[in-house]
Formats: sequence, C-alpha cells, structure tokens
Amino acid sequence: MANSISVDKLTSAQAAVELNRLNSLLGQANTDYHGNDAPKISDAEYDALKRRNQEIETRFPDLKLATSVSDQVGTPVSSGFGKVEHAVRMLSLSNAFDDDDIGEFDNRIRKFLRLSSDKIEYTAEPKIDGLSLSLRYENGVLVQATTRGDGSIGENVTKNAKTIKDIPHKIDNASDVLEVRGEVYMSHADFTALNERQAANEEKPFANPRNAAAGSLRQLDSTITASRPLLFFAYAWGEMSAPLSTTQIGFVQTLENYGFSINPLTKVCHGPGELISHYRQIEEQRALLGYDIDGVVYKVNDLQLQSKLGFRSTTPRWAIAHKFPAEIAHTWLEEIDIQVGRTGALSPVARLSPVTVGGVVVSNATLHNEDYILGKDSKGELIRDGRDIRAGDWVEVYRAGDVIPKIRDVDISKRKPESIPYIFPTTCPECNSPALREESDSVTRCTGGLICPAQAVQGLIHFVSRGAFDIDGLGAKQVEQFFDLGWVKEPVDIFTLQDRFGSGLQQLKNRDGWGATSADKLFKAIETRREISLNRLLFGLGIRHVGETTASLLATHYGSWTSLETAMDHAASLTGEYWDALLSIDGVGDVLARALVSTFADEKQRAVIDRLVAFLSIQDVVAKVPVDSNVVGKIVVFTGSLELMTRAEAKARAETLGAKVSGSVSKRTDIVVAGPGAGSKAKKAIELGVEILTEQQWLDLIEPSEA
Ligand code: IVH
Repeated sequence: MANSISVDKLTSAQAAVELNRLNSLLGQANTDYHGNDAPKISDAEYDALKRRNQEIETRFPDLKLATSVSDQVGTPVSSGFGKVEHAVRMLSLSNAFDDDDIGEFDNRIRKFLRLSSDKIEYTAEPKIDGLSLSLRYENGVLVQATTRGDGSIGENVTKNAKTIKDIPHKIDNASDVLEVRGEVYMSHADFTALNERQAANEEKPFANPRNAAAGSLRQLDSTITASRPLLFFAYAWGEMSAPLSTTQIGFVQTLENYGFSINPLTKVCHGPGELISHYRQIEEQRALLGYDIDGVVYKVNDLQLQSKLGFRSTTPRWAIAHKFPAEIAHTWLEEIDIQVGRTGALSPVARLSPVTVGGVVVSNATLHNEDYILGKDSKGELIRDGRDIRAGDWVEVYRAGDVIPKIRDVDISKRKPESIPYIFPTTCPECNSPALREESDSVTRCTGGLICPAQAVQGLIHFVSRGAFDIDGLGAKQVEQFFDLGWVKEPVDIFTLQDRFGSGLQQLKNRDGWGATSADKLFKAIETRREISLNRLLFGLGIRHVGETTASLLATHYGSWTSLETAMDHAASLTGEYWDALLSIDGVGDVLARALVSTFADEKQRAVIDRLVAFLSIQDVVAKVPVDSNVVGKIVVFTGSLELMTRAEAKARAETLGAKVSGSVSKRTDIVVAGPGAGSKAKKAIELGVEILTEQQWLDLIEPSEA
C-alpha cells in the first residue's frame, strides 16, 4: 500500500494515488472538525496526514491537486472552532475623543459615587489594536482560551493560544479559577515579514497587523498559528475564585509576576489632568512602539470603586478608551452611488480612487444623506462652509477605528468647470417606486416596501444576522444568491427551503460554493433555529427603531409571543390600557411604539410575520432569579431631575437590584423617586397613594449599610 511507503521511496504513480487519498481524508477531517464539531481523528493524526501530504507535494510539485487542502488552511475559519460560553461576559469600552470627554468621564464617576474633593486614582495604558482573548486557568493550568465572539459566546482557540510565547501554560500559586484577559497582537516587523511571505507564496496580503493577528489566531491548523509570531498583553480578568489585588495596578503587577507581559506604559494617574498628559506622552511615542495602538484606556484604580460603578449594557462605567484622532487621506471621488437599506433609506455612497487611510485601503465612503452632500447638517446649518460634494471632486477621507470611512471635506479649487451638482434621486434605483423625504427627516426613503427587492434582501440579511437568527452558513452572500434564484423571498422561505429543495439537493449542490455537505449542514443549522428566543425573533423582524436592546426590553416585558401579539392587537388604536402599558416600558417612546404597533397592524407585514411564526417554536422569557435586595420585583418610577446620579445610572442600578423601572405612574407602581422639579408623575403618585421617596431616601433603601 502506498500509504505505508516513506515519501522518499514513492514512485510518481504511487504519489498521485496517495495525494488523492490524503486530500479526501483531510477534506473529510476538516468537515468533521469545523463543520460538524465532531472530529473523528485525533489532532495528532490530522497533523501527521497533513505533514505527509505536504511532503509529497514538495517532492512531486507537478502532482499537487488544484483543490489541494494545503491551499485551504491559509484562510481563517470562523465556524471551525467549538463554541464556549464566557463565565463572565467580555465587554467593550465606551469611547472618548477629546479632553472635555475625559473631564466628563471623571465627573460622571464622582457623581455616581457621590465623591467631591479628592482626585480619583486611575490607571492609563495603551489601547492595543488587536483582538481580545480570555485565558482560563484552573489550579494554575491553562485549560481554555476563548476569543471574544459576541461577548457572551466565543470560539475555543486553546490549542492556538498555547503557541503564543507570552501566554504561560502554567502559573504558580494561582487560585482555583483565574481568567486572564488581554489582547493578542502582531508587531509591525512581524507583520511586514508575514506579508512578504504571503506575497512570495502568491497569497493575499493582510490589510493591517490586527487582521493578520486575527487571521493567524483563528487558524484551524495550529502549526500555522505557531509559525506566525503573535504576542499578548494581559490587562483584565474574567471569573476569579479569589481576588488578586485591591487595585487595578496591583492586579496587572501580579499578572506580571505570574509571567504575563503587561504594557510598560501602564501608569497610575491622579485626576483627568494627569491622564491627559500621559495620553500626550503615549501619543508622541506611538509611531516608535513597533505595534499598533489606537488610543489610551483609563480605568478606576480602586477595585472596590470599580465594582460600585458596575456596568451599562455593554460597557463598564469605570473605564473609557480615549481614542487617537481619526486618520486622514485625500483622493478622487469617482462616482456617487445610492444603496437602498432594509428600511428603504437611500444612502449615498462615494466610490473613491483607492487610497490608504491609516493602513487600510479604502475605496468607498459614506456620504450620509442628501443634506450632507449639499453642505448642510440635520438642522439646516452649513457645514464645510456650504461646499457641496460632486462626482469628480478631490476629497478628504477619514476613518476613526473600525467605523465606515467618511468624506470630511472637498477641495473646490481642483473642481473641473464642467462639473455638475449631484441631484439626489426621487425614485428608488432598485424598484423605481417614488422615493420620498418627510419634512422632519434627513433620510429619503423608497416607498416600495415589500415590492422593493433591495429592502427585501437587506431585511433577510438582517434576519439571519448575528443578533437575530444567526444561522450558520447563511450570510449576506448566500441570502442574495437564494433571493436572486427566487428561492427565499421572505423569512419563512428559509424554513421551508429543505422541504422544497431537500429532495432536489442537486439544484443547490451545483451552485457556486455549494456541495452536498454544506447544503446538508445549512439545513441542520436552519432546523436548530426553529427554536428561537423572543428577543432574537423581535430583533430579526427588522421593525424600525427596534434594535437589540429594545427587542430585549420588549421580550422581558411581555414574556411570550402570545402576550406580545395580543398586546399589539389591543394597542393598535393607540389608546387604552395596552397602549399605555407599551409606553410605560422604560426605553420605549412614542415613535418606537407607533412603529411597532403599525407593523403588526399592517395586513401585508402581519401576514409575513404570521407565516414565519407558524414554523417557529418561540421560547418564553424565563424570569431572572431574584437578587437579594430591598427592591426586588418592585416597580419604580424616577421623575424630576436627579442630582446624585444620572437617570441612566439610576435605572441601571435599580435593575441590577431586581427592580423594574417604568416610565409612567399607575396603580401598579410601588415607588416613585422624585427629584426637584417633579411634576405630574409625583402628583399622580400622591393621588394613587404610591410611596414617594427622595433620591437620598432611595439610596438609603438600596444601600442600607451606608445609611
Ligand atoms: S480593558 C471591560 N484595556 O479594546 C472591558 N481593553 O474597545 C475590559 N483593548 O474589547 C477591556 N487594549 O479588546 C482594555 N488596555 C486595554 C485594551 C483593551 C485594547 C480592547 C479590548 C476591548 C476593546 C474595547
């Protein structure tokens, strides 16, 4: 048998047979591992097959298959890793862009903590432009490394993380559980060398060190990760069975003692003035650091204060990222195109002569809306001194962080005499329906609704997106493909796809990028999503103004699809008990409520929803286990101007303690917290005999020990 012969003894005929065999085995192993999450051979066996395949290809380059698996591993594989739920969510940071924002950050913290005179101690350290990673140590042994993913669920990249030299596999004297978090990044020198290698192998170069780091960490084959020199700075933590310190700086110093790299520019600063001067110093050194940073992160140093400050929905209150100013470049604007979005909004896009902005090649930039092109802001005030933007102009492009590049300015001196002003379309470029702009709105919208193919496709892309149905293997590209084929026109069609095409799989199999296995995998992924949480469904419906946070609010409030649907039907008249109840949800305003109710009341849209829902099993929202506090389950209304904390902070704190915050007073209200200037709500509370507390009384109630 050819497979038992050592590579240097193979004849060319044997080698050809052997390459076929190895490629089919490795292809199957890849599918089992990252397609089905069910590997059938060990990692060592996989590596051995892979090595043998490569050795034969090196000896007989002419026999290498056009579809060789050796060429497939160079690309990142998103679904190739097992999924891991983070014990403690991995959050992001809110951003600050100028010195004033830092003063406000410090003020917010003082207000929240009710501190007045002393300067608050902070740490300041570079914000590394890489990707975050959580390392779990149990009894001092590295057992799992997980990417951030969506913050709740990440990818298991343990094997790859172990190839990074800054990551200890064992730490001495560690507690039972310690999760160390930090940033994986690539140095400029290693990035340049890697791209030279990519070019030599005729492979695509990486756009920047961050992409290179991400692409390298997320390799199915950890030998590839090992060949890419990645680095790691530790700066935070997740689950911990015992605290490592009482301060942020003490924490990172302990990590350094454990063998982690911590950033040498980390410094303790007192108050905003010192923070800003450290920021300037880091900014001056930025170009010489040898790795990318995109700002400076400030964190409250005292960990007790950090825990008092707590978190907003996705960011901590005790930290902020002070970003460096946006990157700028100049280029020609070749054309202005219109893209039609999910809600029918016509968005102008500038097609640019490609230009590098802060290390990334940019060829498209947003132009926002009609007014922006004309040189006006949303209030009608002039921007760019009223200079309009036209095709053929020389423009200034900028980007900050990962946001979509924007056009900041235009150089009219370079404008050609024959240039003509841009005329914003009055019909939808996709379906020719009239495009209208309401007086109070800056956005022009297609009126085609369900007949507009662009709206339908964007709606479907939204439906399968991460925060919604998140169907593995069904991304924007596939949705467009299925839409163009006429196979999927509305969400329910996704769930009937298999019935309609399952037996005629051939049709799908022979299309671009589809094999029998990937089609089968897709059907399985769709099947698992028939069971869906109420908040994902609500978000997925793509109702205007209903983002992920609002969808969760609504799901928590109504608890089940049946009660939500009943409430929508009863609220359709925009008056009465159900309408009032909808408006009483804190975070739901009039505009959102109208959009929601009118979607359910619209015959065609409702039919689309009903057809979909018939195929789903919608999970009810399970009430959270009540926390132990004086206000668990109480319905609280905040009114008047709050002086000891902001409205948002008051709400967040109350909810953390198990209270439900409402926007209006009714018989069901338990407590009204009234600040100065409280008007009709306080009056109503008196009429209804609801308990009224001052802000201080409320704080004494929720923090009795500090009373
Ligand atoms: S602290 C609870 N410190 O920036 C949040 N993050 O924009 C803990 N990042 O997701 C994060 N350098 O990936 C922190 N020195 C640093 C950082 C840093 C880079 C990343 C991190 C985070 C993102 C937020």
